[in-house]
Amino acid sequence: MVQGQRIYLDALREADALVSAQWMSNLDITSTLWNAPLRPSDVEIEREFQRQADKSSIAFAVRLLHDKTVVGFTRFKTINHRNGVAEISIVIGDPGKGFGREALTLLIEYGFRELNLNRIELTVLSFNAAAIHLYQKLGFQQEGVLRQHLFRDGTYHDTWVMALLRDEWTNLPR
Ligand SMILES: CC(C)(COP(=O)(O)OP(=O)(O)OC[C@H]1O[C@@H](n2cnc3c(N)ncnc32)[C@H](O)[C@@H]1OP(=O)(O)O)[C@@H](O)C(=O)NCCC(=O)NCCS
Repeated sequence: MVQGQRIYLDALREADALVSAQWMSNLDITSTLWNAPLRPSDVEIEREFQRQADKSSIAFAVRLLHDKTVVGFTRFKTINHRNGVAEISIVIGDPGKGFGREALTLLIEYGFRELNLNRIELTVLSFNAAAIHLYQKLGFQQEGVLRQHLFRDGTYHDTWVMALLRDEWTNLPR
C-alpha cells in the first residue's frame, strides 16, 4: 500500500470492476482516452481487463483513506526493467479535487524509488487540457506530437508524448 495525505494506492479488488464499468461508460471520461471503448462497458469487460494485466504492468485502485471509497485507477504499463522505463495512465472519477495530483505523485514516487525507474512516460490527447496541465505541474515535458493519432467525433486529433526523468523529478521545486 502506498499512502498519501487523503488517498492511498491499493490493489484492485473484484468489486472495483463495477466502478470502472460505470466510468468506462461515461462519455466525459472516455472522450479523453485514446483507446476509449466503442460501446458502454460492463462488469465482465472490466474483469477481463483486470485479468489481462501481465508482468509488465502494475495497476492500482486510488482509494480515500478515511472510508476506502475508490476515486480512481492508475497504473504502470509496459514496464521495461532493463531500461528503467514505464508508461503510466490514470482515470479519476471524481475530478477537480486534487486526487489526480496526489495519486500521480504517489505513483511517480513508487516508480522512481521502488521500481528503480529512470523515465516515466505517457501519451495524452492534445485537447485534454486538464491532464496536460496536471502533467506539466508534475514536471512532465512534451517530447513530441503524434499527428492525427486519434479519430474522434468525425475528425483527427494529435496526441502528445510526454515524459519525466528521475533527475527532473528529484530537482522539481516543491
Ligand atoms: C486528468 C485527470 C486524471 C485529472 O485528475 P484530477 O483529480 O481532476 O486532477 P487535479 O484535481 O489533481 O488537478 C487538475 C488540475 O487541472 C486543472 N484543470 C482542470 N480543468 C482544466 C482545463 N480545462 N484546462 C486547464 N487546466 C484544467 C485544475 O485547475 C488543476 O490544476 P491546479 O491544481 O493548478 O488548479 C482527471 O480529470 C481524469 O481522470 N480525467 C479523465 C481521464 C483522463 O483524462 N485521464 C488522463 C488520460 S492521459
